[in-house]
Amino acid sequence: MKILIVGNGARESAIALKLNSDRRVRKLFFAKGNATTELLGQNVYDDSIEGLRDFVIKERIDLTIVGPEAPLVAGIVDEFKKHNLKIFGPRKRTAELEGSKAFSKKFMQTHNIKTAKAVVFEAYQNAIDYVRTQEFPLVIKASGLAGGKGVVIADDLAEAETTIHRFMIDRIFGDAGIQLVIEEYLKGFEASIIAFSNGDKLFPCIPVKDYKKAGSGDLGPNTGGMGSVAPSPEFTEEHQKDFEENILKPTLKGLHSQNIRFKGFIFFGLMVTDNGTYLLEYNMRLGDPETQVIMALLENNLYDVIMDCLDGKDIELKFSDKKAVCLVMCSGGYPRQIETGFTIRNTDKVTSQLLFAGAKMKGDQIITNGGRVLSLVATGDTFDEAREKVYHDANLIHYDYEYYRDDIGKF
Ligand code: AMP
Ligand code: GLY
Repeated sequence: MKILIVGNGARESAIALKLNSDRRVRKLFFAKGNATTELLGQNVYDDSIEGLRDFVIKERIDLTIVGPEAPLVAGIVDEFKKHNLKIFGPRKRTAELEGSKAFSKKFMQTHNIKTAKAVVFEAYQNAIDYVRTQEFPLVIKASGLAGGKGVVIADDLAEAETTIHRFMIDRIFGDAGIQLVIEEYLKGFEASIIAFSNGDKLFPCIPVKDYKKAGSGDLGPNTGGMGSVAPSPEFTEEHQKDFEENILKPTLKGLHSQNIRFKGFIFFGLMVTDNGTYLLEYNMRLGDPETQVIMALLENNLYDVIMDCLDGKDIELKFSDKKAVCLVMCSGGYPRQIETGFTIRNTDKVTSQLLFAGAKMKGDQIITNGGRVLSLVATGDTFDEAREKVYHDANLIHYDYEYYRDDIGKF
């Protein structure tokens, strides 16, 4: 069979490697792909929804898997379904659970899902008047998609007012700032749980810890993710029970009561506080870099579990009891100003799984072309063992302005 994977990060590289080990997979296509995927299959450069639809029809592709949120929110699944093309992911309306923080907060509130207290605003002055009555810190979120940059933790009133102005009036994220969600600040640690949906039930994977801050010791700006470990060593059975009772079950009930029956992934972004586990957000897709460690430990055949979900069958997920560590190597300056175009050397010397993201082929060289350049993934009986492998390999790899955190998987 032939499979198309939409996206170009290390997440998509991880999905690709997992599927590539399946003998039934005849050819993999990627839109737009990266250096890993170019070596494994064929990259497709027209990644518009119509372009992909036509490509899938022409190439008779059997299954499409969508990595990032933007095509889901833009309606790729609706368009593919119109043409009876097999695709794993939610329709546009359901993708709004990620695409609109106002919509998802309303969903959480309606269905008694444990989440931070929040108010949604559509008028600038109302938002300003509200923050003047509140205590700080306070969390201000642009409702729409803002590439992970639309959340500001305001430490005082001045910062809150400036943020509201930048989001709603200056529209630094365009229409994403038409609505704002302003919510209580929760203090704790974060965990990510991703579940497969077969349209009727949700099947959660093991909890993952994602390292969001750019700097070692959790300092500096938020990023797309600098590393991950699984299973999260902080997330206890008690947290898991709290999650299942107060987040997972009511989410499923809410989906049923609103007649939302999607087949795809749902990602729960959690904050664990002294008062228990809270839901910060839904993503309607796999996470990056969460996928890298999930795929390293998943023992099921990925194609089979996806097809079973598409057929509405129940699945039983199995994970290795090993520990997995993923280290993300970046271009210096990420997530701000970066320079790219540098040759990546010694990639043949590593023993960890090497997944390219912001890297492309140029002749026979692999060069950097993005902020998050590659992921190194290893497993071990302990986190220390897995961590030593990825750091050993990170030390071997060289490109100009390389940067990575030195504390991924260190507890
Ligand atoms: P979100 O896109 O809603 O997950 O927010 C992005 C990041 O902002 C989260 O991963 C947290 O680090 C932080 N964040 C979001 N909401 C809150 C909150 N209510 N309290 C504390 N931190 C938050
Ligand atoms: N790692 C969080 C995300 O993929 O959004």
